[in-house]
Amino acid sequence: MKIQKSDLIKFKQNQQKIVCLTAYSFPIAKIIDNFCEIILVGDSLGMTIYGASNTIEVSLETMINHSKAVVKAVKHSFVVVDLPFGTYEQSREQALETAKRVISETGCDAIKIETPRNLISTVNFLVKNNIPTIAHIGLMPQSIDKIGSYKYQGKDKQTADLLIEDSIMIANAGAIAVVIEAVPASLASEITRKIKIPTIGIGASVDCDGQILVIDDLLGLNQEFKPRFVENYCNLANIIENAVSKFSYDVKNGNFPQSKHLLQ
Ligand code: KIV
Repeated sequence: MKIQKSDLIKFKQNQQKIVCLTAYSFPIAKIIDNFCEIILVGDSLGMTIYGASNTIEVSLETMINHSKAVVKAVKHSFVVVDLPFGTYEQSREQALETAKRVISETGCDAIKIETPRNLISTVNFLVKNNIPTIAHIGLMPQSIDKIGSYKYQGKDKQTADLLIEDSIMIANAGAIAVVIEAVPASLASEITRKIKIPTIGIGASVDCDGQILVIDDLLGLNQEFKPRFVENYCNLANIIENAVSKFSYDVKNGNFPQSKHLLQ
């Protein structure tokens, strides 16, 4: 059965963990669908799929194209799409127009925006206009030019208190959940206790209501980038390398194709 917006809060109330992963393509979304409550078409695709050094080059068209493929594959999970950099920050009207376009062109269930304090009113505006919205606090990769590097946020009392206040305002603004990225575990845990909407952690705390990982990181596709919070559950890069080297050997030695592959 398809996960609905109203189910997410029930997971928190029933203390059932919410499993979230990113997906950017039809085949991966199809494989992971039964194991997730939320699938995020994250703008991390700028780095994982397109080899960019950050997420700020990702266009709305790219997000829409990948989201269409994911939505087509998904029967169970709640599909969320990131609004990319430059498509929602200027004004709440801009955010609404982008969100409407994303939802109508892809058929996704909700959108996510990175949410510094000045954009919490945008969350509220989107929600009031019937756009299911997930907020994102802590490390916000679209702010890389401002913060300088991908570092943990909320490490001192002053910034931690601001993040607690932000998360309370985000819940009051009507967000359906909040992603908390790269903050101290005790802070994510406190936020999770203080707010009624689900928290989805990445480099946050085991106490968060759910956890999200970038699928390429979980699968061990990316050998060069491994932040502390990533766990490689397999080494797909090695598996691909082995398969391709066997194929290469077979072609060079005349072992492929075999008669079973050919019309005689
Ligand atoms: O873009 C993304 O994949 C994300 C997750 C890391 C939360 O925002």
